[in-house]
Amino acid sequence: MIELRDVKKRLGSRQILDGMTLSVPKGMNFVLMGPSGSGKSVTLKHVIGILRPDAGSVQVDGQEVPTMDRTQLMALRRRMGYLFQNGALINWLSVEDNVALPLREHSKLGRGEIRDRVHEVLKMVQMDHAAAQSPPSISGGMKLRTGLARALVTKPEYVLYDEPNAGLDPIISQQIHELIVEVRDSLGVTGLIVTHSRACAVHCGDRIGILDHGKLGLEGTVDEMVHSEHPLARAFLGGGSD
Ligand SMILES: Nc1ncnc2c1ncn2[C@@H]1O[C@H](COP(=O)(O)OP(=O)(O)O)[C@@H](O)[C@H]1O
Ligand SMILES: [Mg+2]
Repeated sequence: MIELRDVKKRLGSRQILDGMTLSVPKGMNFVLMGPSGSGKSVTLKHVIGILRPDAGSVQVDGQEVPTMDRTQLMALRRRMGYLFQNGALINWLSVEDNVALPLREHSKLGRGEIRDRVHEVLKMVQMDHAAAQSPPSISGGMKLRTGLARALVTKPEYVLYDEPNAGLDPIISQQIHELIVEVRDSLGVTGLIVTHSRACAVHCGDRIGILDHGKLGLEGTVDEMVHSEHPLARAFLGGGSD
């Protein structure tokens, strides 16, 4: 379980998080929506300990993240995959080597074991045919699938998805949504998904929360949120929104 309680965070002159409280139960996909610049990525960075709160608590399975030392943070990050916006691949490494990176950094597996694991996870995201290609030569959807493979290669219990379909067309987005659902249902991964997209939220989510002025302004099941008359729900999940 991921749990933020009353988190406050100031960056520069702005109070970005101001009483942010959110919990993601095991096995669920929690979707976090909100305007651009409202602190969604900042929230994810607190969960993996890249940022520390000024006040409040950030816990993963009851362990306080901000007070973890380096070793504990490394252990946490082995259990937590992070899918960055646009995949964030390294251009001069092949698809295969990008996916192998977390294992080379965080595991003691031998070369052969790493290769096997990398191909297993590339197969899951249907990228095994493109293992030798380099990121500049593949499409946006393929980059994202590679990023997802890299997030999954350590067999994490949690995956944090930052705008998994930004810049992708609806058909490719739909494939990514299906993968995210498969990751939850087949691998039992707990997900925290940041997105602007109504389609992503409705397809992938179990619960949806909307960030407003530094805290969750509204939260509920997908069904509750889609049918809610609350202005925040209408703005992000109404018929006219994507
Ligand atoms: N390391 C940082 N230093 C200063 N300001 C930051 C930093 N990271 C993010 N911000 C600011 O915090 C706000 C929220 O950022 P972010 O969480 O990335 O927004 P989004 O909801 O679009 O993901 C933005 O105004 C951004 O400029
Ligand atoms: Mg962001």
